Amino acid sequence: MPFDAFRYAHAHRREVVWMSQNTNHLVPPEVVRGALEEAIRERRYEGYPYAPGEPELLDLASRDLGLPVEHAFLTGGGTESLYMIARALLAPGDEVVASDPSYLIIHRFVELSGARTVNLPIYAPPYRLTPDRIQGAIGPKTRMLLLIDPLNPLGSGYPREEVRAIAEIAHDRKLLLLNDVTYRDFADAPALAAEFAPEETVTVWSVSKNCGLAGLRVGGFLAPPELKARIARFNTNDLGINILAQVAAIAGLRTKSQWIGAVRRQTRENHARIRDVVEGVAGTSMPIFPSQANMSVIDVAATGLAPEAIQQEMLERHGVFVRAGNYLSPTFGSRFVRVSFSNPPADIDRFAAAFPRAVADLRARAPAPRA
Ligand SMILES: Cc1ncc(COP(=O)(O)O)c(C=O)c1O
Repeated sequence: MPFDAFRYAHAHRREVVWMSQNTNHLVPPEVVRGALEEAIRERRYEGYPYAPGEPELLDLASRDLGLPVEHAFLTGGGTESLYMIARALLAPGDEVVASDPSYLIIHRFVELSGARTVNLPIYAPPYRLTPDRIQGAIGPKTRMLLLIDPLNPLGSGYPREEVRAIAEIAHDRKLLLLNDVTYRDFADAPALAAEFAPEETVTVWSVSKNCGLAGLRVGGFLAPPELKARIARFNTNDLGINILAQVAAIAGLRTKSQWIGAVRRQTRENHARIRDVVEGVAGTSMPIFPSQANMSVIDVAATGLAPEAIQQEMLERHGVFVRAGNYLSPTFGSRFVRVSFSNPPADIDRFAAAFPRAVADLRARAPAPRA
């Protein structure tokens, strides 16, 4: 049986340092604890939630992005929004201009609709799509542009002028623009495509990463009324989103301005430390720095080691969970592991001790190259 990293990591969760899913372990726990405890005391879980979502949550989420609350729709994580958007807005034969590497779950949803993605390779500077390349990829079947900003897994972010240029392409060519902004709170100066192409853009947000609530599964999308209604037809959560999750999301978003600066600073500091460690290991490097998200990639191609072997070695021998690249890139996935770093400094210490050791041990065990 192949090694099941997630099964192993969950079974050992108390000892494992979680640097594999871009989760955020830096938000002060008291932020949501009180709200959750109160909701449990009131036994709010006994009843169904208000189906459209807690009005305060919709209000906070839209104000956070500066978009109209009438555009907001709540889902079980951003993932559910992404699924609904692909199903509702794409038809067989349609094309979506996207990238490789990318957050490939979205590409899978596109394919479920009978459409396909046109993946532009971006594993080279500037490590993101450019307006010129997008223009060149648009053909008669193109229906949508996918703009994940900042981008999972690379951590590259789009300057405001490029977001504007890409949004203007969508507007001029009458295309939909899916703007996934899950990681925007980690960026220096994030910009929203909806500002420049309000009629064409669907914005997907999440509290999984910024508010450290990935386990609770809350997110949503914002779109102008006609588009929102088309997407909402594919809603399966007719009875609403988990009420405890909504309560925690409200507590997180209400207070975010007080602690997000410290989260961002620690995340950046961690990236700098990780890069120093990686640069000290022959054959490994971090090509994107500083990340505009809370993750980036470690290129390991020059070591000759398989990312899956590094993932397993780091997890089983050192209790540090990083992620092999293959699930994020069909073309470049064998070159990198992804590491996320919104973690307490002690977790980074564990990484710093483990990574050089893991690479050295794997190299020592690798069969000698044939003469
Ligand atoms: C780009 C991107 N969008 C969406 C998601 C999913 O977020 P959620 O936890 O809200 O479903 C992720 C999760 O890693 C992601 O990387």
